[in-house]
Amino acid sequence: MLMDKHGRSVSYLRLSITDKCNLRCFYCQGVRDPLVKHKEILRYEDMEKFLLVAESIGIKKVRLTGGEPFLRRNFWDFLEKLGKEFNNFDFRLTTNGTLIKSKKELLKLKELGFKGLNVSLDTFDKDKFLQITGSSYLNQVLQTIFWGLEAGLKIKINAVALKGLNDKELVDFANFAYKYPVDVRFIEFMPIGQKTRWKKEYFWSAQDILRQLTQEVEVLPLDSQEQTAGPARVFQISGGKGRIGVISPLSDHFCDRCNRLRITSQGRLRPCLFSDREYKLLALVRNPKLSLKHLEKVISLAIKHKPVGAHLLEKNKNKVCDSAMVGIGG
Ligand code: 5AD
Ligand code: SF4
Repeated sequence: MLMDKHGRSVSYLRLSITDKCNLRCFYCQGVRDPLVKHKEILRYEDMEKFLLVAESIGIKKVRLTGGEPFLRRNFWDFLEKLGKEFNNFDFRLTTNGTLIKSKKELLKLKELGFKGLNVSLDTFDKDKFLQITGSSYLNQVLQTIFWGLEAGLKIKINAVALKGLNDKELVDFANFAYKYPVDVRFIEFMPIGQKTRWKKEYFWSAQDILRQLTQEVEVLPLDSQEQTAGPARVFQISGGKGRIGVISPLSDHFCDRCNRLRITSQGRLRPCLFSDREYKLLALVRNPKLSLKHLEKVISLAIKHKPVGAHLLEKNKNKVCDSAMVGIGG
């Protein structure tokens, strides 16, 4: 496993399958983000090369993200190939849950070696759903969550914490996690992208969420080992099946234990979400004269110099980065 110069070992890759999405979540997409030409987007064969390099440098966990991965043409064929050829990886997937057509599809995903599915769901209210995502797919998303559970996938629900929009629904989410074995994580709204619609009025901090949670819901703290497994702080709901918690990239960052790398849909290696330092690897990965060893060297060097996002945040006060989330991959 490779280590950066801050002593963090990098074992987790997030690979964006596409920058396109069928939803328009206002926290994710900027005001008129520029369109990217198809030839500037990674092809599946490019992604496979990246995965081969990832394997050789000791990456263990790979999350496929978007935009919305299931929007990409022939995505199921790609998934099958991954299931066959890269069975050493712990594969995960993040989806908006609107394009899954049957439980059978999710059983297939499980068969291919996927253990879990992260589904974005910010509200149970269909008017708010429309307001946040610009669509009326709420029931499809819920259906996907239920099919996922029936298929034996570990389901995590990502809810972006939005004051004035979903801050009255904490108890509804807790009830959902009481009833079903899901992990609900409220994620602090991050000002990602030059054209972000981030405003202080929307910001609902993890601290406030946890305070409200402990007042309104009976939760048990988890043992400390589980707490450090990822960036989320989640709590078992007393007597319930699932858990609820927060991810606090802004108020209480987890940069010191960050183990991740991102590859954007344009083939840019991004060692830190909060830093616009990107390594444009598209031409490199497509160059038939360059070997995978060459790619490996560049990626290893990028890992070594992985920035610490929290330091940048302190310096730039509220301006996180210029690229839009939809192409970076959550
Ligand atoms: N702040 C916080 N989370 C975000 N996501 C997208 N944009 C933002 C943002 N600005 C999250 C959504 C989605 C995942 C891919 O990224 O919750 O589930
Ligand atoms: Fe699409 Fe997810 Fe972004 Fe919403 S958050 S626009 S579902 S990629």
